[in-house]
Amino acid sequence: MEKGKDKSAGFLPPFKNFATQAIHAGQDPEQWKSLAVVPPISLATTFKQYAPGQHSGFEYSRCGNPTRDCLEKAVAALDGAKYCLAYASGLAATLNIAHLLKAGDNIVCTDDVYGGTNRYFSKMASDMGLKTVFVDCTKLESLDAAITPQTKLVWIETPTNPMLKVIDIQACAKVVHKHKGVILAVDNTFMSAYFQRPLALGADICMYSATKYMNGHSDVVMGLVSVNDDAIHERLRLLQYSLGAVPSPFDCYLCNRGLKTLPIRMKQHYQNALAVAQFLESDPRVEKVIFPGLPSHPQFEVTKRQCTGCPGMISFYIKGNLTNAATFLKNLKLFALAESLGGYESLAEHPAIMTHASVPKADRELLGITDTLIRMSIGLEDSEDLLEDLAQALKAAVPDFKICN
Ligand SMILES: Cc1ncc(COP(=O)(O)O)c(C=O)c1O
Repeated sequence: MEKGKDKSAGFLPPFKNFATQAIHAGQDPEQWKSLAVVPPISLATTFKQYAPGQHSGFEYSRCGNPTRDCLEKAVAALDGAKYCLAYASGLAATLNIAHLLKAGDNIVCTDDVYGGTNRYFSKMASDMGLKTVFVDCTKLESLDAAITPQTKLVWIETPTNPMLKVIDIQACAKVVHKHKGVILAVDNTFMSAYFQRPLALGADICMYSATKYMNGHSDVVMGLVSVNDDAIHERLRLLQYSLGAVPSPFDCYLCNRGLKTLPIRMKQHYQNALAVAQFLESDPRVEKVIFPGLPSHPQFEVTKRQCTGCPGMISFYIKGNLTNAATFLKNLKLFALAESLGGYESLAEHPAIMTHASVPKADRELLGITDTLIRMSIGLEDSEDLLEDLAQALKAAVPDFKICN
């Protein structure tokens, strides 16, 4: 990865040939008999063999499918990876990665992760004999101290969800790889392949809920995993068809199509999010804004060092209490009050009641997921319209700066 200067904020420059790869990698029309420029949706569940065991490379669709193959090649190129594997959801991808471990092994997971990841590790994986400890991986000493001889996987998400803490992947990889046989997996959902390449920074596994930015249109649920290591890839490939949580060819077609506009979408998400973050930071009804692209963010320097920009994710504390937060959310007109993120449309949600309700209350409070925390996914609308909507909802929620009781 080349280091250089970004004119505006000093982020890494865009990864070389990214937009070209997003359009062409894995898409060669010569792979189809028809020379179709757009990859066909290959719905067949089974494929004719020339003789027993002699086939085109495809036998049965759970094990391999031409439309999925095309998507996996495209994502591998965008991650600068050797391999990519697609799954039926982000959580299915997490489940497959956890299956690299065996009963008795331990996982170290960063403390602020997607609620479903927390639930899976602490409730389901634990029933299968995998113990998870949660630590703040922005603190390298805590991470190092949490790794024991039983630890086989370190799981980080950066930026974290919903507190948007940024973890230094390179520094983390150094700590993790001091311990022999420990794998570092990075959930790269928030940044997308356009803004961050965890494998180039030393991670062993780069994982996505492609439901978010990678597809970008809020119409596909999917997971993706990119790796460079041959042995990890071989094991994951076996698990992919043995566990069977594969995406449909239609979903692969849609996600592959979504990737074509990933660079332009991400640039616009960043521009709009920056405008919104600056606006919120100047509004007296707002207590605090968390956006890794603002100089006020505690890991702004790390973000600039390891990312080419920032996605549309902003968290902020509104002044007051739960009533003020709920009134704000109910008064938004352009933003939909909904879970999820990374689509072209702007969304807002209340983590404590919605996405992170499954995290125990005491843990939520320690993390800062309070009643007044709001998380937003800034979409691709005109930024002036977004600011107007936010201004009127803030006014309705905190009229004359009076705090509701
Ligand atoms: C950061 C992150 N990782 C993983 C997931 C799980 O992905 P999926 O909903 O596609 O199963 C989500 C879902 O919101 C997420 O936000």
